[in-house]
Amino acid sequence: MDPSTSRPFRLAVNTGGGDAPGLNAVIRAVVLTALNRGWEVVGIRRGYEGLMDGDGLVPMGVETVQGLTARGGTILGTTNRGNPLRWPRHNPDGSVEIIDRSGELIEAFRRHNLDALVAIGGDGSLHIAAELSERGLPVVGVPKTIDNDLAATDVTFGFHTAVQTASDAIDKLHSTAASHSRIMVVELMGRDAGWIALYAGLAGAADVILLPEIPYSMDAVLEHLRARMRRGPTYAIVVVAEGAYPSNGKVTLVEEGKPGAARRYGGLAEQVATEIADQTDFETRSLVLGHLQRGGQPIAFDRILSLRFGAAAVELVARRDFGCMVALDASGVRAVPLADAVARTKKVPLDSEEILTARKLGICLGD
Ligand code: F6P
Repeated sequence: MDPSTSRPFRLAVNTGGGDAPGLNAVIRAVVLTALNRGWEVVGIRRGYEGLMDGDGLVPMGVETVQGLTARGGTILGTTNRGNPLRWPRHNPDGSVEIIDRSGELIEAFRRHNLDALVAIGGDGSLHIAAELSERGLPVVGVPKTIDNDLAATDVTFGFHTAVQTASDAIDKLHSTAASHSRIMVVELMGRDAGWIALYAGLAGAADVILLPEIPYSMDAVLEHLRARMRRGPTYAIVVVAEGAYPSNGKVTLVEEGKPGAARRYGGLAEQVATEIADQTDFETRSLVLGHLQRGGQPIAFDRILSLRFGAAAVELVARRDFGCMVALDASGVRAVPLADAVARTKKVPLDSEEILTARKLGICLGD
């Protein structure tokens, strides 16, 4: 019983942004930790949409989270459209107007007697959580993204699972590339930071790794591939992060994005493969691993990190430590202000051991 309201404390939980392996494990940890405190837990479907639409609130009992630790995706659903603070309203005349629905959202939160929210999300969702917190919503964040590009936490859950998926795929490319004496160019996720490409490229023994942090020179890439082929190997693996770009050009986008929607990256692997084929005698093929990197079961590391984050988030709520996000550093799971957490993107440091290791191994980073 919450002494201030004479009813059980009611905790809401939602998942926003692109999904990541481990989301369900966080939900399970949040629900079980809260139920063990005697609280009620309510899931909000589709990020904030379920609350604003009024049809997306689901009571979360023990039975609703059974078997969730190992399950990919999110049982609550998610969306990376529809930021309540910049909501695209479609007018009858066909125009689209960007409106702020935060007042409506906070009002719905109160109407449903919700006392606090655990918002599990990436950069975009945590920005929303930070702004809602400023406007009085009692919220605690849990960082999520396979891209691992959130500052203030050493790692996000889902990242290592995505790296495993990507390096398994690269392993398979080696044999077909060798059989056909081809250069295979594989595009991995990572809009602003190249963590997945760097880790999977290292683990998968790529010959070239292109990252958003290091604008690349096609001449340097071609020279590296020619030198490799002269040495003897008849094939090569090139890994590109979707957000990498040439030093004399810009990022490759699928489309510019509709009002209120994020820009969609994609097409760099095909572009790089075409350039290699045009400027050399090497046969090339490209592929985009895409959303495979977000799907499937989390590996054990991500399951445990997710459970730790979920349980710790509920403890922050219990201490009324709102406006914070759980984060991992060398000392363990700790709380950091949401505003700090979303202040900047965590890029791969150019002097990091991973970058230096790649260079020592003779991997071309495009510069
Ligand atoms: O989660 C981040 C991310 O994986 C990016 O690397 C990628 O650009 C984006 O999601 C794609 O999201 P979607 O296609 O689901 O909009």
